[in-house]
Amino acid sequence: SRFFALVPAAGIGERSGAGMPKQYVAIAGRPMIAHTLATLAAVPRIAQTLVVLSPHDDRFEAVLPACDAWVARVGGASRADSVLGGLAELRRRGAADEDWVLVHDAARCLLRPEWVDALIDACEHDAVGGLLAQPIADTLKAGDAQGRVTVTVDRRDKWAAQTPQMFRLGLVERALEALGAAATDEASAVEALGLAPRLVRASMANFKVTWPDDFALAAQLLASCRT
Ligand code: CTP
Ligand code: MG
Repeated sequence: SRFFALVPAAGIGERSGAGMPKQYVAIAGRPMIAHTLATLAAVPRIAQTLVVLSPHDDRFEAVLPACDAWVARVGGASRADSVLGGLAELRRRGAADEDWVLVHDAARCLLRPEWVDALIDACEHDAVGGLLAQPIADTLKAGDAQGRVTVTVDRRDKWAAQTPQMFRLGLVERALEALGAAATDEASAVEALGLAPRLVRASMANFKVTWPDDFALAAQLLASCRT
């Protein structure tokens, strides 16, 4: 079985306040998505990467002429819809049920090849699959609409889920079809089938650029790992 990467990049980046889809904001001289795709291209075991764009996207062609990823303009209203569209496109291009798909957010542009290798090493012989994740270090609070703490949550068994998330094509497609748009990641859909994905520790640096001040943080990290 082969390894494919699938990069959902059809979001609008509302929380980022960037005024454009955040994956096209330039960080350290290149659009965020260019960093993301360069890292995936640097993992030899990944046979091919498919990028899922919005049908209305008019930025990808201009910013990535040199990119050798496959492109599908099948993005949907939710991340799960975009991933399902991408999985169907992978099938059209010859991927099979037993091939592995590593779904990775375009907005996690700090991904490093060694973390992808660690995920593949940990999961390629696993019956279920798994995801990169980070144990929670901070004390966790639940809050109400007024911004007051309602309860402190035990952090000891809690992890922050990241991407890539790696499952066999047939399994992840069945899982997402069953859970629908409610799934904010692939693992939660697989969990809803009663399966337990493997947690593979990565780094806090594999964070998802989400809020306005995340761009500066990402730029500093990218600059520091190039020197
Ligand atoms: N994504 C997608 N299709 C959607 C929504 C999200 O392909 N309908 C992608 C985004 O482009 C991003 C990844 O899924 O790379 C993670 O989603 P998120 O960080 O939530 O990005 P946005 O949805 O763009 O941001 P926001 O939720 O702030 O609007
Ligand atoms: Mg979103």
